[in-house]
Amino acid sequence: MNVLMVCLGNICRSPLAEGILASKAPDHWTVDSAGTSAYHDGERPDTRSILTARQHGLDIDHQRSRPVVLEDFERFDILFAMDQSNFNYLRNMAPHEAAAQKVRLLMNESRPGMNTPVPDPYTGGQQGFELVYQMIEEAVDSFLQKHT
Ligand code: 4NP
Repeated sequence: MNVLMVCLGNICRSPLAEGILASKAPDHWTVDSAGTSAYHDGERPDTRSILTARQHGLDIDHQRSRPVVLEDFERFDILFAMDQSNFNYLRNMAPHEAAAQKVRLLMNESRPGMNTPVPDPYTGGQQGFELVYQMIEEAVDSFLQKHT
């Protein structure tokens, strides 16, 4: 299974999502993350995401932000959007219907049909990052129960 985690900046939420899924998924899966913007292209994850990951025993320092590219719709089986805005962006970008069908809202894995967003923690404090961590882990665990 090849899974791409997507948020706006690819420095806060999706790096955590990549780190959490990569740490729990079978070794042969490809797990990556990207942003719907290129605002932070080439940057490390936000220090607050790095710290939150570290508090849970995960190292995400090696990750670098990049924007989503068209090829991602071929490389990946599933593109998980963190919120509705990311979801709409990916659906609009998808080159054909089969590609559009690969786009899903992450939290619907554990909260089916609820369309719960993973809240953007960028302008808040450290607590927001811990909440993001907990929500993503919940969804990832549900996803893995169904697919492993
Ligand atoms: P992310 O958080 O989408 O979870 O990486 C954000 C990072 C940067 C910005 C917004 C959200 N920004 O506007 O620069």
